[in-house]
Amino acid sequence: MAIRLGDEAPDFTAATTEGTIKFHEWIGDGWAILFSHPADYTPVCTTELGTVAKLKPEFDRRNVKVVGLSVDPLDSHQGWIADINETQDTSVNFPIIADADRVVADLYDMIHPNALNNLTVRSVFVIGPDKRVKLILTYPASTGRNFDEILRIIDSLQLTSEYKVATPANWQDGDDCIVVPALSDEEATAKFPKGFTRIKPYLRVTPQPNR
Ligand code: BEZ
Repeated sequence: MAIRLGDEAPDFTAATTEGTIKFHEWIGDGWAILFSHPADYTPVCTTELGTVAKLKPEFDRRNVKVVGLSVDPLDSHQGWIADINETQDTSVNFPIIADADRVVADLYDMIHPNALNNLTVRSVFVIGPDKRVKLILTYPASTGRNFDEILRIIDSLQLTSEYKVATPANWQDGDDCIVVPALSDEEATAKFPKGFTRIKPYLRVTPQPNR
């Protein structure tokens, strides 16, 4: 069955470029991103993995572990990493799962045969410290992902898991937030010492509470 938001992320044990991992144990108390790419030695994937390597300090700062995956074997990943490092001027600094038997790809429904036969599409799963799935993205092979957007998503997920706010369209860290409709005006007054603006009864805006 397809994985949905709020579901427990399926656990697994897998070989990676940084040794075998037990997924839930590897996640530990923090956040995680599991993302698949279609195949090693392909151009868009090369740019994506190089980009993730360069952004690793940003993921670390947010307490997010990142792990890649494709259905290529370990020796293919190892050879390709050298190419990524060379061409993208970086050093791959996160594990990549070698899912040649497609166990993890099947668990996470990453193979979409009507889009791409036998290969994983560009899936992204963000998993919280409670091991529940917080976000799912699916991109086709032709479209490389915007990993700055994935960092923005993490900022929103982490903020909204701590405070009774939601984030509006195109929100960036530091922008005003939406007071969740479930809070009454009285509760919002108590919860948000910086105050809030009541544009409509259902549309109330407050400065980002942790800034
Ligand atoms: C790419 O990474 O460029 C790619 C991979 C699989 C199919 C098409 C493009």
